[in-house]
Amino acid sequence: MPFTPDSELDLLFPAEYISQEVRSQLHPDLHIRPLASTDYKRGHLNILSVLTVVSDPGEEAWRAQFNMFREIQKTYYSIVIVDKPSDRIVAVGTVFIERKFLRGLGSVGHIEDIAVDKSQQGKKLGLRIIQALTGISENSGCYKTILNCSDANIPFYQKCGYEKKENEMVSDI
Ligand code: ACO
Repeated sequence: MPFTPDSELDLLFPAEYISQEVRSQLHPDLHIRPLASTDYKRGHLNILSVLTVVSDPGEEAWRAQFNMFREIQKTYYSIVIVDKPSDRIVAVGTVFIERKFLRGLGSVGHIEDIAVDKSQQGKKLGLRIIQALTGISENSGCYKTILNCSDANIPFYQKCGYEKKENEMVSDI
């Protein structure tokens, strides 16, 4: 499939929200952009399966979820890195903006669901995804950006400028 430029896509949010500095650091064969309504076809779920179990809901249900993300404005920012020669997604990540009553009606950015295709790991794509999402969180006015990760991923997030603080508590269903 030939590479599809942003101008021909239906994007989750304006592409300009992604830092120009991050864009300029990517290999010319790679392109970073917001999730698009047709990304089901570009392997979005395959990349997420690098992270955890993914059951395929089918394209129609996937698109309904995409539309729901977009309707809740200024809240869900999912981004992808696309390999231009194949027009396939090779890395994904999301920052979710939580609004609060405290801190003068402040907001917190939650980084979620970071995954890089196995064949592309170790090439700084994870770092670029985190830099882009952190920038979106900061530009949304969040007073902090947080995430949960395994012990094995702590060194990666430290390389991205994050530090370990407090604990995660879970009630598994
Ligand atoms: N241990 C130590 N250092 C690491 C690790 C690790 N597990 N992973 C990356 N690094 C280092 C790299 O060596 C690099 O260091 P350098 O700048 O000194 O060269 C730096 O961190 C940046 O690494 P990237 O190349 O950007 O990492 P990559 O593109 O492989 O992405 C990621 C890292 C996202 C963890 C990827 O390996 C992946 O998809 N893993 C499987 C899914 C996963 O665990 N996702 C994160 C879940 S947590 C969440 O979603 C909030």
